[in-house]
Amino acid sequence: MKNQYDIPQMGFGTFARKGGDGIEAMLVALETGYRHLDTAQDYGTETEVGQAVQRSGLNRDDVFITTKIATGNLGAGALISSLRQSLDNLQVDQLDLTLIHWPSPNNAVPLAVYIEQLAEAHELGLTRLIGVSNFTIAMLEEAQAILGDLKIANNQFELNPLLQNKKLANYCIKMGISVTCYLPIARGILGGVPEIAQIAARHGATPEQVALAFEFAKGYIAIPTSSRADRIRSNYLATKLVLSAAEIATIETVDRGQRVIDPAWGPDWD
Ligand SMILES: NC(=O)c1ccc[n+]([C@@H]2O[C@H](COP(=O)([O-])OP(=O)(O)OC[C@H]3O[C@@H](n4cnc5c(N)ncnc54)[C@H](OP(=O)(O)O)[C@@H]3O)[C@@H](O)[C@H]2O)c1
Repeated sequence: MKNQYDIPQMGFGTFARKGGDGIEAMLVALETGYRHLDTAQDYGTETEVGQAVQRSGLNRDDVFITTKIATGNLGAGALISSLRQSLDNLQVDQLDLTLIHWPSPNNAVPLAVYIEQLAEAHELGLTRLIGVSNFTIAMLEEAQAILGDLKIANNQFELNPLLQNKKLANYCIKMGISVTCYLPIARGILGGVPEIAQIAARHGATPEQVALAFEFAKGYIAIPTSSRADRIRSNYLATKLVLSAAEIATIETVDRGQRVIDPAWGPDWD
């Protein structure tokens, strides 16, 4: 289950997976079959990701690693050195994917300043792919115009059945930008949506598995997380769940535009 950029569709989010417990959770994920770990400079989990990959015994090439540049590291001259620190933390020579975590709040750093540094990081071989997170269509267009032939490979944003972000997701897919869903299981509240509960019951599945299977069917990447081994394993089983076209159409109707991550300094969403 990979896409045009060889990004495994099932990833493991590492927000809050800190310390020994965090490493154990990542090891459970890797043993279960997850081959994609999502971290960020701001999560303070890069070291844990590096240790989990080492301890798993897997080859570096077997695990897709994403990190995200913190907003404090977007200014001129700051991004590359911060990414070198991330590589040190992760104990790897190259990221698979490096994202701009958020557009600079209130445009304090002009977009061109950090997009050009991201292109330089790619040129230096510090990252195989580049992308963004929490970018709007207008920001994607501005960034791609700056990058020229170097493709924005990914946009990571909030997407689950309650916030389907259809305009942005459709734009990304049309432009060949892969979509990563964060909060892909809406933090465990989807059992309260009758349509999803019914589909889950029909398949003997959990509502979270249904949400993930829906996202995979749409061609998206999803990065759920859990502190619990049983949930890490059960979420992974979504990779085996096939929904019918009618079920996918039903899930499309439950979109409420219900956004959770919405800081005051964030962009004006599409
Ligand atoms: N780019 C960005 O700006 C951004 C923003 C937010 C998140 N992210 C990324 O996206 C990842 C996922 O986001 P998220 O953690 O906020 O949301 P999520 O994956 O939708 O939900 C995780 C929460 O749901 C619970 N959970 C997990 N599996 C469950 C299950 N099967 N049944 C019921 N509850 C379940 C977990 O609690 P337990 O631990 O108790 O299981 C955890 O509190 C993050 O780890 C991070 O990597 C990126």
